[in-house]
Amino acid sequence: MAQLWGGRFTKETNQLVYNFNASISFDQKFYHQDIEGSIAHVTMLAKTGILTEEEKSQIIDGLMGILQDVESGTLPITSEYEDIHSFVEANLIKRIGDVGKKLHTGRSRNDQVALDMKLYTRDEIVALKELILALMNTLHRLMKEHIDTYMPGFTHLQKAQPVTLSHHIGAYMEMFRRDYSRLTDIYERMNYCPLGAGALAGTTYPLDRELTAKLLNFYGPTLNSMDSVSDRDYLIELLSACSTIMIHLSRFSEEIIIWNSNEYRFIELDDAYSTGSSIMPQKKNPDIAELVRGKTGRVYGALMSLLTVMKGIPLAYNKDMQEDKELTFDAIDTVKGCLALFTGMISTMKVNKEVMANSAKNGFTNATDAADYLVNHGVPFRDAHSIVGQLVLFCIEKEISLDDMTLEQYQTICPVFQEDIYDAISMKTCVEKRNTIGAPGQEAMKQVIAIHEAYLKTLNEG
Ligand code: ARG
Repeated sequence: MAQLWGGRFTKETNQLVYNFNASISFDQKFYHQDIEGSIAHVTMLAKTGILTEEEKSQIIDGLMGILQDVESGTLPITSEYEDIHSFVEANLIKRIGDVGKKLHTGRSRNDQVALDMKLYTRDEIVALKELILALMNTLHRLMKEHIDTYMPGFTHLQKAQPVTLSHHIGAYMEMFRRDYSRLTDIYERMNYCPLGAGALAGTTYPLDRELTAKLLNFYGPTLNSMDSVSDRDYLIELLSACSTIMIHLSRFSEEIIIWNSNEYRFIELDDAYSTGSSIMPQKKNPDIAELVRGKTGRVYGALMSLLTVMKGIPLAYNKDMQEDKELTFDAIDTVKGCLALFTGMISTMKVNKEVMANSAKNGFTNATDAADYLVNHGVPFRDAHSIVGQLVLFCIEKEISLDDMTLEQYQTICPVFQEDIYDAISMKTCVEKRNTIGAPGQEAMKQVIAIHEAYLKTLNEG
């Protein structure tokens, strides 16, 4: 276990200390970014005359060789190195000799790891956005398909007023659009290059930080070396955005589970996205939706952990910060998995239109519209509310719906009712009369669907 920093030590590190301190088991995840950062670093060192062109070429060739061999599996990343940075540097020196020892000129592992983590996070933000986009494309397709699929809208999980499946799904579309734009915001704010900050106080070499930043596609260099090596705000922002994505997936999963239940039967999940029971042969369980709901806790946990890790750390770098990695990696992988599976699950589910429509019909979801009918015929709203309350009570006793009452029965309770009440409280009317923007009526929905269409088109083309 040769260490980068062995010079001033006279004793071997205690084995338990070594194990406790090492990060290779998880930071190997960004070997690619570590090498990418080193290539940019030496390119800049040669441009500024700190290294010769010849030295630069040898180092880059060596680094490219390491990258290829790691990727092909001929060079396994093993625990004899403390971290991924030591692994790359040691292997470079093994390959190209003493010139490899010049790689770390003007650099510290503190700014190196800050860079690696940013490069990794940046790539993952792009991957997360792609997965959200795929989900939004699916939601958009479902919105178009179900513009006249009537269903009950709920408050307190009690039937409230009729909506459409298109409108219900449209609510999630809004949430995922916000999630997408939150990720874009984070990227914009974090995209400044920390390399060149050194351990904490910059370096004495004439580094060209603008150049390194440009080579790595950052907007520019960070402006304070102490903050550069100890800023983890962008990870907290990302974990917060990931937590919000999980809230949305979890709420939607909960609805899928309810809708897929034997009692509701609004939808049926595809066999490929369901699981069975080892004992009960009849069972077909929504495990994927349940796991997505369950995994939400892990992602919140990562956010809480990192907030706590960062809260008392004095400037600048402290080893506590190494704890950012496993949390972030796990959270990102979890969210990516959930997004991909959720999209597959809802794009294959079968919608039972009839069942949904019947359920909307049978829960007095048109009671508000019956009251509105009376108001339109001159009855004050509070009286209308009370009259329709009596109608509902009557129907509950008779086990019928408002649509099943005879005109005589209506008029016994209130003579204002006429034949046109049936049309006024039909589900179609209840939904289609609601056409202010944001409401479930078809005209309003078509406008919103067109807005999403234009939005998705730019994202899908971009
Ligand atoms: N493994 C470390 C981390 O993840 C890398 C930086 C090490 N720096 C140091 N001074 N020990 O944070």
